[in-house]
Amino acid sequence: MRVDVITIFPAYLEPLRLSLLGKARERGMLEINAHDLRDWTTDRHRTVDDTPYGGGPGMVMRPGPWDAALRAITGSAGPAARPRIIVPTPAGRPFTQVYAAELAAAPWLVFCCGRYEGIDARVIDTWADDEISIGDYVLSGGEVATLVMLEAITRLLPGAVGNAESITDDSFAHGLLEGPVYTRPPDWEGRRVPDVLMSGDHGAIARWRRDEALRRTARRRPDLLARVELDAHDQAVVADALSGQPDETGVDRSAAAGANGVQDVVTPAG
Ligand code: 6GU
Repeated sequence: MRVDVITIFPAYLEPLRLSLLGKARERGMLEINAHDLRDWTTDRHRTVDDTPYGGGPGMVMRPGPWDAALRAITGSAGPAARPRIIVPTPAGRPFTQVYAAELAAAPWLVFCCGRYEGIDARVIDTWADDEISIGDYVLSGGEVATLVMLEAITRLLPGAVGNAESITDDSFAHGLLEGPVYTRPPDWEGRRVPDVLMSGDHGAIARWRRDEALRRTARRRPDLLARVELDAHDQAVVADALSGQPDETGVDRSAAAGANGVQDVVTPAG
């Protein structure tokens, strides 16, 4: 996979040299190029933004440098190849595990990192395939959102993760949150690992893990259960979890969530 990232802060992409991503790059499975948008400005001050038409706070990114950058980068692989062009923005469609898997199948991605007030809409209309948000909160720019998406996408590339099973067991892979995990010692400070995990009974262990996933999902993310098929046993586990205490985080988010699971918007004071 080839990835190009256009940003006014290329140094934000340095963490992509670490860990799994760094190894995938060293092995040649992944090529990541970070580009400085200011390289495509033509004025002495290398200006990338201007005041918004219609008024309002903040600045908007000028179309000229973006268009020049996208022409140069997309034209660099010959006329046949075409990348999928992504604009991270809080106004985008929600990024999910399913979306990550779809993007992991593309041979070439381009991320256009704007500042929050955004990029001139005509550039987005002309060039963007996807406008994507990573959650219902506001970041100052698209760079960190791009890091998040690239980590989720690249760990799905064939051979990128040592253990393929660890991907299929992930939270969201089955539509449920993953339950708790344990390692040695079996007794730590008087807290014991659940006996079933040391029983060697693989059927009982699988059942326990599903029950824990169901309980955790019911308490923390009840909205996810609507899309999961539950048999009679599953439904009993969920009902029992919801009748008990709220989750150990101490926050019962199900009560605060609206009918569609979306939290109320909070505006900052001052
Ligand atoms: Cl993709 N960008 C910015 N700037 N803020 C965000 C976001 C993206 N997703 C959530 N908040």
